Amino acid sequence: MQAIDYLKRAGTRLRAKGWRNTATYSLGVATELVRACVLDVRYGGKPCLTDLKTNANDDHRHTMVHSDYHILRKIFATVPIAPQDVLVDVGCGEGRVINFWLSLGLTNAMIGLEGNEAVADRARRRYRKYPNVTIIQGDAVDNLPSSGTLFYLYNPFSPQTMERFVAALGERDATIVYYIDNYLNPFRTGSWTICDIGYDDGILEYRASLITRRR
Ligand SMILES: C[S@@+](CC[C@H](N)C(=O)[O-])C[C@H]1O[C@@H](n2cnc3c(N)ncnc32)[C@H](O)[C@@H]1O
Repeated sequence: MQAIDYLKRAGTRLRAKGWRNTATYSLGVATELVRACVLDVRYGGKPCLTDLKTNANDDHRHTMVHSDYHILRKIFATVPIAPQDVLVDVGCGEGRVINFWLSLGLTNAMIGLEGNEAVADRARRRYRKYPNVTIIQGDAVDNLPSSGTLFYLYNPFSPQTMERFVAALGERDATIVYYIDNYLNPFRTGSWTICDIGYDDGILEYRASLITRRR
């Protein structure tokens, strides 16, 4: 299924951007798939698979796909992580972002919040060898850890849940890294600074925001 999806996307790209661009892009995707498999297995014990049927919500929109390592590398090149930061992946799926943080050699406390029970249970078992990693099953907003300082989101929420998430952050001094930043409105009304950290070099393009508390 994933292969068919890639082929369809390659066809669309070919029509829009031509052969050279599509070839460079496809080579990048293939290399990234191999690298991703290696890192997933090394840190999380198994590849993080896309599963468009798995979702913590019933809206069938915010499903279990994972951030690509090369995009995480680009994003976190612009986001400083301090040793005392408590890193939270909001909607952690199978743990790709935790793998990425571990692969950087970080020993910070890391918390994965995942609404899907089976996915969270499997992740909890896989990461139990890391004393600094905790997986919490349940609604991410209801279980938002008060110790969290840096929150990563890859489009997990509907607009309504995003409103609840921002309200649950309260007045804390948090940094939010929001990849595929579809619902920024709740951050526009409060005391937040939104910085565009999206990327587009003609081959790779994505939207992302770095959101910090304005003081
Ligand atoms: C797009 S995936 C991102 C996975 C991972 N963060 C990454 O970037 O590789 C979003 C995940 O959020 C989870 N999710 C969606 N809504 C949630 C909620 N309200 N509480 C907890 N998890 C949720 C989904 O089950 C899914 O695994």
